[in-house]
Amino acid sequence: MEKILILDFGGQYNQLIARRVREQHVYAEIKPYSRITVEEIKNTGYAGIIFTGGPNSVYDEMSPHYDPAVLDLGIPVLGICYGDQLMAYMAGGCVESAENSSEYGKTAFKAEESPLFTDVPEESVCWMSHTDFVRRLPSGFKGIAHTDKCPYAAMCDEERKLYGVQFHPEVTHTEFGKQILRNFLFLVCGCRADWKMEDFIRKSVGDYREKLKGKRVFLALSGGVDSSVAAVLLHEAIGENLVCVFVDHGLLRKNEGNFVEQTFRERFGMKLIRVNAQERFLGKLSGVTEPERKRKIIGEEFIRVFEDEAKKLGKVEVLAQGTIYPDVIESGKGDSAVIKSHHNVGGLPDVIMFDEIVEPLRDLFKDEVREVGERLGIPHELVWRQPFPGPGLAVRVLGEITKEKLEIIREADAVFREEIAKAHLEQKVSQYFAVLTDSKTVGVMGDARTYGYTVALRAVSTDDFMTAEWSRLPFDVLERASSRITNEIRGVSRVVYDITSKPPATVEWE
Ligand code: XMP
Repeated sequence: MEKILILDFGGQYNQLIARRVREQHVYAEIKPYSRITVEEIKNTGYAGIIFTGGPNSVYDEMSPHYDPAVLDLGIPVLGICYGDQLMAYMAGGCVESAENSSEYGKTAFKAEESPLFTDVPEESVCWMSHTDFVRRLPSGFKGIAHTDKCPYAAMCDEERKLYGVQFHPEVTHTEFGKQILRNFLFLVCGCRADWKMEDFIRKSVGDYREKLKGKRVFLALSGGVDSSVAAVLLHEAIGENLVCVFVDHGLLRKNEGNFVEQTFRERFGMKLIRVNAQERFLGKLSGVTEPERKRKIIGEEFIRVFEDEAKKLGKVEVLAQGTIYPDVIESGKGDSAVIKSHHNVGGLPDVIMFDEIVEPLRDLFKDEVREVGERLGIPHELVWRQPFPGPGLAVRVLGEITKEKLEIIREADAVFREEIAKAHLEQKVSQYFAVLTDSKTVGVMGDARTYGYTVALRAVSTDDFMTAEWSRLPFDVLERASSRITNEIRGVSRVVYDITSKPPATVEWE
C-alpha cells in the first residue's frame, strides 16, 4: 500500500492534513520530525512527504530542523507554512520575519502554471497564518504564486519534485485546497488511491483470523463507537473466540444497557457477558460528592469488576482495545512529546495480564472508524452516537449520586434527546445532554407550591472537544424540552440552558 509521510513540526492542523490525504484514498501517517531519520524514510518507501506547519521561526535556536538529505531522496515533498519556510532554508534560500508582512486569514492569491495548480484558477482565496516568509528562493526553485504581501506564496523545484506553499491547503477556507492536495498526491507523487475501507476490513479480518487462530480474545465493550467497531471487526475474524464483557455500572443513559446487549448478542450473535454491577458502583459512590473522587472510584471499580470476570474466564491470551489513531499520534512539539495514553476502560491493561494486546483500529481516524462500522452493519444510531464519558451519568449528577437522582436525569436526558432528534439537529450539534444540578428551587404547579431540582441542558458544537462553543439551539426546541421535562418528570421544577463555551467551562459539568 502506498503511503504519504506527514512529517510533524508541531503545527495545529497536522491531523487535518492526514485526514485530507486519506479522504483522497491515500494512506497517510504522522511522525514527529524527531522520531524518524532520513534512512528510515528511505527504507519505508513513502510515495511522498508533507512537511507540516509549526509555531516556530526557522532562525530560532529552538526551532525544529531536519536533515536536508531528505530533499535528495527523490521522494516528492510538499512543505506547508513553516514546512515551506524550512524547505527554503534547508535548500539554501532565505527566510525573513517582518511584522508588516504578516498575513492572517483569507487572502487573495495568484497562481501560475504548475502541476501543483492544475485546475486551480489564476486567482482564488487561500488561508494564511504567518509572519515569516520566503524572501529569497533557493537555487533551482521558482515562485509559482504570490499575494499582495508575500512574493513567494508558493514555490517549486519541478525537477526534484519539491513544492512549498505558504498558505494552508488543508483548511476549507482555502478555496482550491483540496484540488492542490490532489494535484500533489496524484500528479506529483503518482499515487493510485488504494486506501479504501472495504479493503481495510477485508485485510484486517484476514490478518486477525490468521494471527489469532485458536486464541481467546477479551474485549471490554462500552457501547461507544470505537469499542463496538473493534468488537464487530474481530468477531468477523474469530467468531466465538472473542469474549466481550460489558459492564453496566448503573450510570448509563435510558435503555442503553439493553440496547447494547441486544445489538451485540442478538444481532451479531456475539459472546457477550453483561455484568450488572449497579449496586456495587452505587455502594462505592454513596456519600461521595467530589467530582475527581467520583471519577477515581469508578475507574478503580471498573478494574475490580474486570478482574473478577477475567478470573471466571480462566486463561485468556489476548486483550483487544478500541484505540484509534488520534490516541496514538505523538506531537512534534518539542522533544518531550507525550503520548496520550488511552484506556478504553479505566486502566485495564495494567492490572490484568495478557500475553498480547491487539488494537485493530489504531490506524484509523474517527470518521474512518464510523465508515468501517457502517460497512460492518452496525446500527446507524450506534455508529453516530455522540461521545459519552466513561464515568457516565456520575459526572452529570452534581453532588451525591442516588437512585432517585439518576432516575430523574435519565428521563430528562431522554426527553432532551428526543426533542433534538425530532428537530433533526442530531448531526448539527456535537454533544448534548442534561445535567442534574444539586440545587432545588421553588415552583408552582396547579395551585400548589413545588420544591424540586433544577435541570440544566447543555449542547455544544466542536471539531475536537478541546474547545467548544455552546450551540444556538432554536428557542422552540428548548421550550418543548423544558415544558416536557417539568411536566413529565416528578421532582423537577426548573430547566436552565448552559450558555458557556469551552474554555472557560468544560463540556461536562464535573
Ligand atoms: P470536557 O468535560 O473535558 O469533555 O470538556 C471533553 C469531551 O470528553 C468527554 N469526557 C470523557 N470521556 N472519559 C471519557 O471517555 C471521561 O472521563 C471523560 N470526561 C469527559 C466529554 O463528554 C466530552 O465529549
